[in-house]
Amino acid sequence: MAAGPDTDALLADASRRARGYLAGLADRGVAPPPEAVEALARLDFPLPAAGRDAAEVLALLDDVGSPATVASAGPRYFGFVTGGALPVAVAAAWLLAAWDQNAALAVMSPTAARLDAVALRWATDLLGLPASTGGGFVTGATMANATCLAAARDAVLARHGWDAAGQGLVGAPPVSVVAGAEAHTTVRKALGLVGLGRDRALALPADAQGRIVPRDLPRLSGPAIVCLQAGNVNSGASDPFGPLIAWARDEGAWVHVDGAFGLWAAAAPGTAAQVAGVGAADSWATDAHKWLNTTYDCGIALVRDPANLRAALEAPAAYLPGAAAREPMHFTPQSSQRARGAEVWAALAALGRGGVADLVERSCRLARRAADGLRESGHAVLNDVVLNQVVVDFGGPARTDAVIAAVQRDGTCWCGPTTWHGRRAMRLSVSGWGTTEEDIDRSVAAIRACSARPRSAPPA
Ligand SMILES: Cc1ncc(COP(=O)(O)O)c(C=O)c1O
Repeated sequence: MAAGPDTDALLADASRRARGYLAGLADRGVAPPPEAVEALARLDFPLPAAGRDAAEVLALLDDVGSPATVASAGPRYFGFVTGGALPVAVAAAWLLAAWDQNAALAVMSPTAARLDAVALRWATDLLGLPASTGGGFVTGATMANATCLAAARDAVLARHGWDAAGQGLVGAPPVSVVAGAEAHTTVRKALGLVGLGRDRALALPADAQGRIVPRDLPRLSGPAIVCLQAGNVNSGASDPFGPLIAWARDEGAWVHVDGAFGLWAAAAPGTAAQVAGVGAADSWATDAHKWLNTTYDCGIALVRDPANLRAALEAPAAYLPGAAAREPMHFTPQSSQRARGAEVWAALAALGRGGVADLVERSCRLARRAADGLRESGHAVLNDVVLNQVVVDFGGPARTDAVIAAVQRDGTCWCGPTTWHGRRAMRLSVSGWGTTEEDIDRSVAAIRACSARPRSAPPA
């Protein structure tokens, strides 16, 4: 596509449409109406032999696609753990799309490589991790877990004389893996991806909030990896890192922390104590697209000694720059990559330390407000609301599922289901930069109205 009047008009139209979309986010129903979802069939046509006019394609995308999106970027989406993108992140992402840089190598994009390094340094500092820490930007916390665990696998096996990067795991000494009973499902997936098995990990018992109980910890021998968690996906609670990491160190294990959202607790004075001692681990997986509110997809893999990451992931070739420089692709599973670090740089530069702390503490305050509001109407909040997660039982599985379905249909807000400690529950996560007290109060009122309908009548 050559730059010129058509390009200008197309990008101006895209900007106009995107701004219109964002302006309407707070007022529309959060879930898309069923008619809009049905209308997506209009986009599902046979691939045309001759291309259509770009302006027409964009119009179709917006006219048909936008109404069927979920307003997850808006202020009353409490599903999964999903932040809305900060305006500066959206704006930076637009500019990055125009740059279309391949951030794999500094020679391909000096800007992307530099901002990748700066954003990693800033994130490391903000999260209270050791200054030696290095890492890379990946698609999300699932891949950040896999990336860190690949480095962990190779490092613990190297200590026992085995070259896992070269020889794989066939014939290798067995690696002991330990994780909390409530480790996130993606930690197991990541363990499977790196050949350590989804189901081999020894599960350490967890307490009522999902934290590993640091008692009667097992003896480990040989190569070992211990997976801990900052931010349980239901309760938001974090493992007690101090005693667990001390034990793992004594056992000679590598400690990995899945902190997809919970690691950001370290960035706010009001919540940092919940993750005290986390900096003593060897690797950390987190997301920028959750609590930092960047656009998708953006995870961060961080490793105390970046040489371990590089040893696992570098793919040398005659045409690629050698060992001297820090090249993003040497620290990530992917080679070609978008300039995720540049967007994280923009978000962090615009927020500053104070802005990140405020985002984290505000989300937690609003989560407590939601919990209080639901408790006041007699509903059972199942977790201690220590972070940004709230888990609510509306009176048994059928009733709870019916309330969730009614809330989703009502459209004022969006919350999803979970089953936690055998109880069916609604899960709310307050992670978006745009959520206000008024949004919480409106949402609580809507949830109350959905739950107040007589038990005999199916929720509307
Ligand atoms: C604790 C935890 N770990 C990992 C993940 C996976 O993150 P992603 O979807 O970015 O891969 C999540 C997602 O919610 C999470 O909450």
